[in-house]
Amino acid sequence: MEYWNNRFSEKGKIWGTEPSKTALYAFKLFIEYDIKKILIPGAGYGRHTKFFSIHNYDVTGIEISEKGISLAKKLDSKSNLILGSVLDMPFDDEIYDAIFCYNLFHLLLEKQRISFIEKCYNQLRNAGFIFFSVFSEQEESFGRGTKIEENTFESKPYRPTHYFTEEDLLQHFYAFSVIETGIIEEKENHGELGPHTHRLRYIFVKKE
Ligand SMILES: C[S@@+](CC[C@H](N)C(=O)[O-])C[C@H]1O[C@@H](n2cnc3c(N)ncnc32)[C@H](O)[C@@H]1O
Repeated sequence: MEYWNNRFSEKGKIWGTEPSKTALYAFKLFIEYDIKKILIPGAGYGRHTKFFSIHNYDVTGIEISEKGISLAKKLDSKSNLILGSVLDMPFDDEIYDAIFCYNLFHLLLEKQRISFIEKCYNQLRNAGFIFFSVFSEQEESFGRGTKIEENTFESKPYRPTHYFTEEDLLQHFYAFSVIETGIIEEKENHGELGPHTHRLRYIFVKKE
């Protein structure tokens, strides 16, 4: 929480206010599968909750950083924004058509990841969907920093990162049926890194 509070306090809306290329891709799938009500864990300062809510989705976001939530409430007045850790879900009795989670899952350690997926499963309707994007093993930063768990490194203090191979990501979602998975190249330009490209792995699954 401290890491993200500092990051948002120092850099503000780091990734801009437009949705990521990944979110635009998920949006196409959400239209195709007639999704209306979305949960967005790790909502940050609200660029994705805003994008989906202005496209008339019923959106709830969860975010651990107070600074993130306070920026999000200014950017996005339509979504329901909850301050808290995704590891303490559920925060409501709602059941969602889909869960969209952009670049949060790789920040969790193994036991936390397993528990989080279970919590997501429980908040989805039958035949509901999950779209997650995560850092892949093809990221330039793979292997940098102190190894904490298998394929998990802490290159910045208090920010472990797990790098997913395809097999690893599929294993995490063994309880779902996989619709598609792949790599999306996400270009960013911020801070000390300047222009750089992430090779994100995404997965789109259905609860059976
Ligand atoms: C890489 S950022 C992505 C933010 C947002 N999805 C976006 O793309 O604009 C990861 C976000 O997850 C949040 N986060 C990290 N751990 C969390 C947790 N346990 N519960 C809720 N949010 C968390 C961070 O505060 C941060 O806002």
